[in-house]
Amino acid sequence: MIEDACSALREGKIVLLYDFDDRERETDLIIRADAVTPKDVLTMRRDGGGLICTAVHPEAAKRLGLPFASDLMQGFGAVEHLGDIPYDRKNHSSFSIWVNHRSTYTGIPDRDRATTINAIADQVKISLNGGGQNFAAEFRTPGHVAILRAAEGLLDVRRGQTELSIALAEQAGLTPAVVVCEMLDDETGLALTKEDAMAYAEEHGLVFIEGKEVLEHWEEMNAAR
Ligand code: 5RP
Ligand code: CA
Ligand code: ZN
Repeated sequence: MIEDACSALREGKIVLLYDFDDRERETDLIIRADAVTPKDVLTMRRDGGGLICTAVHPEAAKRLGLPFASDLMQGFGAVEHLGDIPYDRKNHSSFSIWVNHRSTYTGIPDRDRATTINAIADQVKISLNGGGQNFAAEFRTPGHVAILRAAEGLLDVRRGQTELSIALAEQAGLTPAVVVCEMLDDETGLALTKEDAMAYAEEHGLVFIEGKEVLEHWEEMNAAR
């Protein structure tokens, strides 16, 4: 199953990634960022309906100078732990900054978001290859694509779709920049149930994978190292 997910990602197809029964209990549509098209953005906003974000590898985030939003916001307001999340008390939110590529106008049309996402993937690739990068020369912030910064140590440390998708991209041998978008139910407005997400995957011929499978594989790989 892990291999099916990796192959689909390599082929630039959307994969459905559920996290855990004891975490968010949400399914995200995910796709490699370097291959995303305006049509994929349309599918994500229409069939996913959540936030369209781009998760990046922690090493790339470090090299590109991408902070956690919660760190940036320290010092604002009365809340002590601004980045806390109710379903994971040990970790904070993976949100970094929101960007538009400089070649876009407003940044929100599907075409603009695809351009921004592809450019984020380029920067991740360049940074991991040791190339010189200048994030500010490429992007404006705030913008319409949220960058998510995966935790250092990935699944050893945090187990959100941010880390699960980056672990999958690594496993697939891809540039570790992955677009994620939660699937919501049009009738209830709540997160789509696992069963309904599985039915969507079946209907559209897409791979559905759970965090527990990604984690199992991750642990096997680590044990073998
Ligand atoms: C950004 C989010 C999503 O839940 C996304 O899946 C990433 O978050 P996490 O890594 O915490 O699961 O909130 O839209
Ligand atoms: Ca999530
Ligand atoms: Zn979420």
